[in-house]
Amino acid sequence: MPLETLTTIPELRERLLPARRAGKSVGLVPTMGYLHRGHAALVDRARADNDVVVTSVFVNPLQFGPNEDFARYPRDLDADRRLLAAHGADIVFAPSVEEMYPRPIVTHVEVESLSGRMEGERRPGHFRGVATVVGKLFNIAQPDRAYFGEKDYQQLQVIRRMVADLSFPLEIVGVPTVRDVDGVALSSRNVYLSPAERAAAPVLGRSLAAAADAIAAGAVDPRDIEAAIRGVLAAEPLAEPDLVAVAAADTLEPVDPKAPPPAIALMIAVRIGHTRLIDQRVVAVP
Ligand code: PAF
Repeated sequence: MPLETLTTIPELRERLLPARRAGKSVGLVPTMGYLHRGHAALVDRARADNDVVVTSVFVNPLQFGPNEDFARYPRDLDADRRLLAAHGADIVFAPSVEEMYPRPIVTHVEVESLSGRMEGERRPGHFRGVATVVGKLFNIAQPDRAYFGEKDYQQLQVIRRMVADLSFPLEIVGVPTVRDVDGVALSSRNVYLSPAERAAAPVLGRSLAAAADAIAAGAVDPRDIEAAIRGVLAAEPLAEPDLVAVAAADTLEPVDPKAPPPAIALMIAVRIGHTRLIDQRVVAVP
């Protein structure tokens, strides 16, 4: 079946109703567009698990701070449609900002404590914007499953917690980060990098590998693990660390070296030139 493009909430609901009545499962892949192989992996997984696959493409203003890149965030719906068609998605839902927010929104989803830490401390209001739009998309599409990349590890945990706390009737599926051959995590923002900056970007993955080696060698004190990351980042002149976070992988609580968790999440945000890149790794504690 050819890919359908729908832009309004009633159209999407009407399109999904017969499928739902026929007992068919619906998988939702929420995105902000400018799709790459990382998104394709989410679509492939949704295609394997569900009868109907919906991908939303919506650059959500609520999750951008006043000095962030909402206006210049890359957009290319035609290219997105080609990728989605090639990966067998059924529907692309691409609403306008007016369709999603016809008047200033005054109702928000706040996943307390999880949203205020780490990336949330650097980007106040970001996770509130994410949780609000994702909750809204869940109400619009009413999927059986929704797919998110592990690269945005804190986002994934925020969404899992929202779904559990508010009893959304769906399963959240986390999909591993897709990387280029040199280890750089795929991101729509990689397009901002100059050739020299792109050449510097593998330092993020290398810094996480150094921390993983330290943990494998017995390090459990978050200060030592953080130092392993920062040591590698410091050797790259174009890299300016913005966030280096070490937390228990399942709860995102601080790591207590006296009672280490079974797995540790490493989360970093690094500015390379004007571009803020993020990466993550979950490492089992031996
Ligand atoms: O990860 C993203 O692309 C966005 O944060 C999401 C989940 C689509 C919400 O706008």
